[in-house]
Amino acid sequence: MSDSVIYKTQGQIAYLLLNSTPVNGLGQAVRQGLSDGFAQASQDDTIKAIVVGSNIGPFCGGADIAEFSAGTFADKPLLPQLFNQIDASSKPVIAAIDGLALGGGLELALACDYRVATSKAKLGLPEVHLGILPGAGGTQRLPRLAGIANALQMIVSGAPVSAQQAQQLGFVDLVVKDGEDVIAAATNYAEQLLAQQAPALNCADMPVDRESLPAEYFAEFRKSIERKTRGFYAPERCIQAVEAACVLPLMEGLRKEGELFLECINTPQARAQQHLFFAERAAGKVPGVAKDTQARPVKKVAVIGSGTMGGGIVMNFLNAGFDTTMLDLNAQALERGVGVIRKNYEITAKKGKLTGQQVEQRMGLLTTSTQYSDIQDADLVIEAVFEKMDVKKAVFKTLDECCKPGAILATNTSTLDVNEIAEATSRPQDVIGLHFFSPANVMRLLEVVRAEKTSPDVIKTVLGCAAKIKKLPVVVGVCFGFVGNRMLEPYGREALRLLLEGATPEQIDRVLTEFGFAMGFCSMIDLAGNDISYLTRQAHPEVTHGDPSYGALVDSLYELGHYGQKTGCGFYQYSGRDKSANPDVITLAEQAAFKHGITRRKISDQEVLERCLYPLINEGALILEEGIAARASDCDLIYVNGYGFPAWRGGPMQYANEIGLTNVLDALNKYKAQLGEYGERWFEPAPLLLKLATEGKNFNAV
Ligand code: 3HC
Repeated sequence: MSDSVIYKTQGQIAYLLLNSTPVNGLGQAVRQGLSDGFAQASQDDTIKAIVVGSNIGPFCGGADIAEFSAGTFADKPLLPQLFNQIDASSKPVIAAIDGLALGGGLELALACDYRVATSKAKLGLPEVHLGILPGAGGTQRLPRLAGIANALQMIVSGAPVSAQQAQQLGFVDLVVKDGEDVIAAATNYAEQLLAQQAPALNCADMPVDRESLPAEYFAEFRKSIERKTRGFYAPERCIQAVEAACVLPLMEGLRKEGELFLECINTPQARAQQHLFFAERAAGKVPGVAKDTQARPVKKVAVIGSGTMGGGIVMNFLNAGFDTTMLDLNAQALERGVGVIRKNYEITAKKGKLTGQQVEQRMGLLTTSTQYSDIQDADLVIEAVFEKMDVKKAVFKTLDECCKPGAILATNTSTLDVNEIAEATSRPQDVIGLHFFSPANVMRLLEVVRAEKTSPDVIKTVLGCAAKIKKLPVVVGVCFGFVGNRMLEPYGREALRLLLEGATPEQIDRVLTEFGFAMGFCSMIDLAGNDISYLTRQAHPEVTHGDPSYGALVDSLYELGHYGQKTGCGFYQYSGRDKSANPDVITLAEQAAFKHGITRRKISDQEVLERCLYPLINEGALILEEGIAARASDCDLIYVNGYGFPAWRGGPMQYANEIGLTNVLDALNKYKAQLGEYGERWFEPAPLLLKLATEGKNFNAV
């Protein structure tokens, strides 16, 4: 038997203990070990019950996700068949669950007859987040054990439940205290079962209660998730599998589940979502930061600035239980800032997502100050003041004077040179960029900007803090716009140029939302306010590379005071929540086109998509080449988590991998030739893209 599963016996009980670090993924060796152990226990007449547990702590994190792209998930023994054997066992099988039972891990537990879990255990079927559905019996066994509605909710949301909830739902039999030896508890439970001559149970004998739900139940459920799952392929397949459980005997339902699983597993979406799973894990591995680097302790946090950004950042730390000081030299602004934080919490409490006590607890962690001397004991200081180099440098000079040695000094700048800010201090090794995205208390992405002299332990420390405040940190280097905004620049540039060439805001937004973006570019600018992009462009004329037509239309809107939603008019006109076309946009576009000698024409949807996306991907390739991002998957995480790029496409670089780098390259070259001087200026393929495409490789090779 393989070492991946330990087989042992004690009296009448056999133990199959999964033994595969880090999370007992059900790769081929574990499947083989389980299969062999189960056969041995079944054939041994002295064995009357079987306990399935873990030798390494967590019960099981599910199928080995890496096997899906490798194809080895289909190497025998197959999970569904193995679990069918366990379910059909004539001897009672008890799952002993500590830590987690996820995906195939929960399916293994469901195939057992009884389940004992520790109170901290999480049980769930997160396959939908990987673009697939539970393919080893989860969609058929869970509805039988927990009821259709509960099962459907768990399978389609992918969200785990606690052991106590699982017990209430009916698929955990006994919950023991956290820290208690779950194998010993399962052994006791098994002995009781044997003493009572309790039978082995088979899910095939369990009915599915469809009758108690209304006839239109599934139709209503589909409607309820429509918005949230727009564009995703797997959720509908999950629903179909549960529907099958309602009408088919177990074995036939399992066959249907298998068919639906195979429909999902080879899709670009499954590849994209699994790419994102591994991308998140890879992002935590930062070149130059050794695994054993010691993090600095962080207990006290200070945020400089009480505006929208400062307040949002403060809330993250209060939520995570940090003592936090919000500092603003303007006492009135500070008071306003505190008011906004309280109001935000109260709104959340009204929705039932926080108790009044929790609101007070969080507010109780907040201190305010108008004096830098009050933050001298802060371990981490985050500056969120006005986006101007002089202002930021002055703040950092003061921080250098007042903060204790070893304090981490972070800037929330989205555009400024973090090296220059660091040089305003005598301790550039302690300075780092923490680029939060707005609203800072909601958005998961955090660009961690590593400056030239930032020390590895500072990076390690902020990654740890980011995890505590539930952010997804991605480490990037210093350049204008870092990764996210730098890649956004060519995307926006093309959207705006296409308006001059003949496209409409409606067409651009429709093409981009049909592609899967949460919002089209023109709507996004209207929401953010085009005054922001105007002022950024004024401050950084170099981004236009001398192109006189750059942003011409959006600049005329700005000059007319049409800043977007906040003035009721931008690319669109707004009346309350209603949005309609702004007829002036076409006139302004025609005037700008005339002024810059651009011939207007009919633009195809394909051209809109290619011209917006491919330069963004090309910029990603330049960023990789320059080492601003360590890997293409980091760019993908930034786009999916910060810029509304559809997760089911895996991010722009993964999208390019999927459609083939040669196609991206050919299209860039096509536009370079077609668009004359403009094409020459903006459509030069990045050398890395050219190299990879020529070698038949993709961005994962970097
Ligand atoms: N397959 C392969 N590798 C896995 C894995 C899995 N199911 N689960 C975790 N890992 C790996 C991670 O990639 C990481 O590897 P690394 O150290 O080389 O980067 C390592 O295990 C540790 O993972 P985390 O860093 O994520 O550790 P955490 O302790 O933070 O989280 C976890 C542990 C909650 C298990 C989390 O890793 C997780 O959510 N895993 C995925 C769970 C899942 O989606 N299971 C369903 C799989 S699909 C399936 O079962 C199909 C079935 O229906 C047929």
